[in-house]
Amino acid sequence: MDKSENFSTTRHSFTTWAKNQLFDNDHRVATKLLDSAVDVHLINLYRDLDIHNKLTKAATAVQLSEALGFSDSAHIALQPMLKRLANHHSFIDADGPGLDCQFKPNQQPDDLSHTLPGITDRMGKLGNDYLATLEFLNFGATHFVRSMRDDHEFMDRVLTGQEKEFEETWHRATNTDPLQDIHGIMGAKAVELLFDGGSILEVGGGTGNGLRNNLDALLNAGRIAEVEKYIFTDVSMQFILNTKRELAARYPKDTCKWQLLNINKDWTEQRVPKGEVSMIYGVNAAHIAMHTVDFMKECIETLKPGGIVVFSERIRRPLEEMAPREIVLNQSSYHRTAAIRHPEYRPQHAYLAREHWLRACELAGFSEYDSWPHESSLSDYFPEQYARVIVARK
Ligand SMILES: C[S@@+](CC[C@H](N)C(=O)[O-])C[C@H]1O[C@@H](n2cnc3c(N)ncnc32)[C@H](O)[C@@H]1O
Repeated sequence: MDKSENFSTTRHSFTTWAKNQLFDNDHRVATKLLDSAVDVHLINLYRDLDIHNKLTKAATAVQLSEALGFSDSAHIALQPMLKRLANHHSFIDADGPGLDCQFKPNQQPDDLSHTLPGITDRMGKLGNDYLATLEFLNFGATHFVRSMRDDHEFMDRVLTGQEKEFEETWHRATNTDPLQDIHGIMGAKAVELLFDGGSILEVGGGTGNGLRNNLDALLNAGRIAEVEKYIFTDVSMQFILNTKRELAARYPKDTCKWQLLNINKDWTEQRVPKGEVSMIYGVNAAHIAMHTVDFMKECIETLKPGGIVVFSERIRRPLEEMAPREIVLNQSSYHRTAAIRHPEYRPQHAYLAREHWLRACELAGFSEYDSWPHESSLSDYFPEQYARVIVARK
């Protein structure tokens, strides 16, 4: 990138690319199919857990969670789930904001599980990889009660690679599923447009979606030699080792460095030097930070002058409603409880909205920040578009 260009100029190229080359009809169809499948699974849970009858006595998510015998923080998952059902269906109404919301059941919802084979069939016609998105949803529905009631740490273990049996499930969900891989592809495009040589530090790299897409893009563009070092980090040694085994040989020897990094702890104490990195990158990892603004400040200290962060993230919208993947993510007690809330940039757990990211960037002190693609450019073409790249300059 020409250093005299600012983000808004590059945003235009990125948006044009996203519209013309990234989002095809399959993405749009699959996003809709996934949304329908989520509701079918939620209705199944609603019926199986007898939520209709329980809500006649327990009107809030907190009360419902107690009635179900769920863990202390389970209401944080139940609330957006019920809100989503109330927004999409007439069998339940919601009245009020946040956890004060009162849910009023109108009637028992119909069992829609007979529609799932048809949804799966249509998804499969888009290509086998698309089935991974439904498999992950199914995994979430199957383990919902286990995580919420019987084994509170189960999903935390799955999401940090400590459940051997489900390693492949998570790998497919983060790499094979095209609706998810799109985050890595978008992030890599932003990296290609903004990277100006030097080292890249990836946070929460997990199963390697970011590393693979970034280095493949730079390799294909004949620019891999510009990468002094790609420092791949995660809190999970298991993920680091698996990703190293899978991907290291694909890139020139010594391009990658593998390092444990807990983004919630002091980075210098974890051998991350200050002021030396050109770019900090994350795919659906930045929202994991307990304190969003402090995390961004840590990024600023780690970057060289003029250094850039690129966070490819699912964006929360509508605000109070459960996003498709949250049927799984909200089963993690870390996801429900760790984030330190703030009304201006962190009103909820898990994913942030576009405006929250931008406010957090401003408070952290970045000199320039933006969200790509352009806000309204895809609203007619792909209204359900859920993936964005947050870019910010030191
Ligand atoms: C949603 S996953 C994203 C993984 C990967 N970037 C991808 O898109 O496939 C979040 C990742 O953050 C990691 N993680 C969780 N807590 C963390 C922490 N405190 N510090 C660093 N990474 C963390 C998890 O191990 C996991 O790999």
